[in-house]
Amino acid sequence: MRLGLLGLGHVGCGVVQLLETQSEAIALRLGEPLEVGRVLVRDPAKPRPVKVNPDLLTTDPSAVLADPAIDVVVEVMGGVEPTGAYIRQALQHGKSVVTANKEIMADQGRDLLALAQEQGVDLLFEGSVGGAIPILRALLDSLTGSRVTRILGIVNGTTNFILTQMAEEGQDFAEALAEAQRLGYAETDPTADVEGHDAARKLAILSSLAFSTDVRSGDVLARGITAITSDDLAYARRHGLACKLIAQAEDQGGFVAAQVAPAFVDARHPLARVKGAFNAIYVYGDGLGESMFYGLGAGGVPTGSAVLGDVLQAARNRRSRVAFSRPLPSRGLAVRSAREAVSRFYVRLETETHASAAADLRRLLLQHGVTLSSFLDQPGQNRGQARFTLVTNPCTLGALEDALQAALSLPWVRAVGALVQMLDLQAGDLAVELPPTVQVEERRMLGRLDVAGPGEGGW
Ligand SMILES: NC(=O)c1ccc[n+]([C@@H]2O[C@H](COP(=O)([O-])OP(=O)(O)OC[C@H]3O[C@@H](n4cnc5c(N)ncnc54)[C@H](OP(=O)(O)O)[C@@H]3O)[C@@H](O)[C@H]2O)c1
Repeated sequence: MRLGLLGLGHVGCGVVQLLETQSEAIALRLGEPLEVGRVLVRDPAKPRPVKVNPDLLTTDPSAVLADPAIDVVVEVMGGVEPTGAYIRQALQHGKSVVTANKEIMADQGRDLLALAQEQGVDLLFEGSVGGAIPILRALLDSLTGSRVTRILGIVNGTTNFILTQMAEEGQDFAEALAEAQRLGYAETDPTADVEGHDAARKLAILSSLAFSTDVRSGDVLARGITAITSDDLAYARRHGLACKLIAQAEDQGGFVAAQVAPAFVDARHPLARVKGAFNAIYVYGDGLGESMFYGLGAGGVPTGSAVLGDVLQAARNRRSRVAFSRPLPSRGLAVRSAREAVSRFYVRLETETHASAAADLRRLLLQHGVTLSSFLDQPGQNRGQARFTLVTNPCTLGALEDALQAALSLPWVRAVGALVQMLDLQAGDLAVELPPTVQVEERRMLGRLDVAGPGEGGW
């Protein structure tokens, strides 16, 4: 079996490294050796952390895509074009394709899988979500005995690393991002990660598989973590909460709602304990109850491990003259905007000092149907400034966003600092109990800091 690699960067090198260190085990599992036939790169002269015969490197895509000696093409070059065209060409040449490209699979996956089936070959993409975590194959196979109702988790290691650094090392966002870039967890342009777009692509793939319906990245409402400050994380800590960028999608009977947003979760919940570049994905279903998939969510070697697993599957299938891939079924569910989802929210508003600010803000929120369970009025960072920290009663995200938009038109409101979902998760047996002394301390802080609301009806 011969592989053609498109790209020899982080993931490509991870694949080559694993191929080298595990060549015997792979040959045993496959029944024959697996070798690299050709590798497409941009710059053949570039130094690489793995040893590859320089004669195998090429800058000509057709040397990989049209070489009859290559059985499986591994696309790990990233980007949408020309990458999408290369995947199509490889499939049209009768090669199986393995990709880790979430951008392409989120929005073109359905068409490409149909093409793969037409050609009687495989298109496998486990590495595109959750790095080494085997979540996609589980959703496509093992979990299909249940009706999946909800998916929820941490699917972006970069933002999780940044939030962990901010919470545990007291760094601000810029410092934590710089640290992530220094360690290779964040790209030079981190926009896709920190604005939630990368997580939205992964959630689109997860939702399409879990709910058997067509969810594209544009259907996922994405809010990132750039507005989160160490003050918000300090608030979370004082209240026994942790801040995470959560991707969540739900089959609400007839339609799907999907969003990526910062959320406060109970610090005892296992999701709160997912640190650094790790990912965790919960799957809820009628038959299966609640399952959590946890592991290294990115990195060249962990992702290379998922990619190589797919390569072995594709290679075995070619030997048996079968194909594993099939078009994704679609129930044609509508995708409803997550603005209609109901939750409690934490909001930090930065204002100028203004005599009737508190009353005006409450009135404005009430006009949009938003009532509060907690309202904290503090001095701002500088003289003449104030900060309002609110927690709403359950309301729609849309109503709250409209109210905050209206607040921004008030001359003394400077900025909506942070808007974070208060995620009420039932952790069941998975809850991690904190020692009683910590709980007492948290309750004490809660009592001291929050101005109690008037109860059920809100403010
Ligand atoms: N890195 C991760 O942790 C991770 C995790 C999950 C999924 N992924 C996905 O895996 C894919 C690869 O990511 P990566 O981090 O390995 O990327 P990377 O380090 O930037 O590597 C990209 C490779 O592709 C080659 N390449 C790019 N454009 C090319 C072109 N037009 N023609 C020829 N060669 C080209 C580059 O060649 P040169 O080396 O010569 O420049 C490089 O070897 C992406 O889709 C990414 O989203 C990555």
